[in-house]
Amino acid sequence: METLTGRRALITGAASGIGLATAKKFVSEGAQVLLADIDASAVESAAAKLGMESIAGDVSDPEQVRGMFAQADSSLGGIDIAYLNAGITLGEQSDIESVSNDLYRKIIGTNVDGVFFGVREAVSAMRNSGGGSIVATASIAGITSYPIDPVYSLTKHAVVGLVRSLAPQLEGKKITINCICPGVVETPMVGEAAAQFLKESGFPLIQPDEIAKAVVAAVLDGSTGQAWVVQPGREPLKYKFRGVPGPRVPGAEGMMLPDFRSRSRGEDS
Ligand SMILES: NC(=O)c1ccc[n+]([C@@H]2O[C@H](COP(=O)([O-])OP(=O)(O)OC[C@H]3O[C@@H](n4cnc5c(N)ncnc54)[C@H](O)[C@@H]3O)[C@@H](O)[C@H]2O)c1
Repeated sequence: METLTGRRALITGAASGIGLATAKKFVSEGAQVLLADIDASAVESAAAKLGMESIAGDVSDPEQVRGMFAQADSSLGGIDIAYLNAGITLGEQSDIESVSNDLYRKIIGTNVDGVFFGVREAVSAMRNSGGGSIVATASIAGITSYPIDPVYSLTKHAVVGLVRSLAPQLEGKKITINCICPGVVETPMVGEAAAQFLKESGFPLIQPDEIAKAVVAAVLDGSTGQAWVVQPGREPLKYKFRGVPGPRVPGAEGMMLPDFRSRSRGEDS
């Protein structure tokens, strides 16, 4: 059976919650992990407890993301797995009229730019080492509406869209890309008061180590472009998206969009 033994992984948002649980799981399965987080002291102490290295950095800054991958290269000798997990919510400030420009930029910067910069660096690093696996943390809010925090939902839909659309391009490079779509996980992001409220309402929460298992499954499964849903009491499952209505023009019923870029590249001449 395939395992993580000897694999080299970078995990963002690794100082807390899902990222920390996944770092622990990866290490217990024999991987070498570089833990990255914006919270310098928390990530340093988390890594020390695991006997691993850490780097402090902000995923919304392309140069800092480049620095994370450069450190993975120098301290791990390369990278086989990139788990792009860092993320934030708007929390109590989700009323659309009270979302300031700064707050909007902050959540887009962390949840969308952070994944994009991470994917770009990961592809470049993995191309040199013959392939690898990229996993991003999206959310159930990335495949369904989430009225509690619509801007968060926007960012997670972006992650799901990127993962599904990019997968075919990366197949030739032997890189898989998937995302994890958890329901509500009991982490500091949710907060103690909200977690307590949900429990009292009888709503089941997921523990972060369940998400870590799903990340391992996504890495080892070998499939790509999948959104892995993780809900309490279920095994992680690859979400089945419904097809969208295609054209209904005679001769082109249900036709798939051809890659029109090949014409401008002169590939069809
Ligand atoms: N907790 C949930 O219910 C839930 C559900 C679905 C998806 N998620 C997603 O899971 C991921 C992890 O969340 P969590 O619940 O473990 O939260 P968490 O708050 O426990 O951990 C998030 C970590 O990301 C770090 N971080 C935040 N901004 C950063 C940045 N700009 N650069 C680098 N690190 C940064 C934080 O310091 C923190 O250590 C997020 O992407 C989140 O959106 C969480």
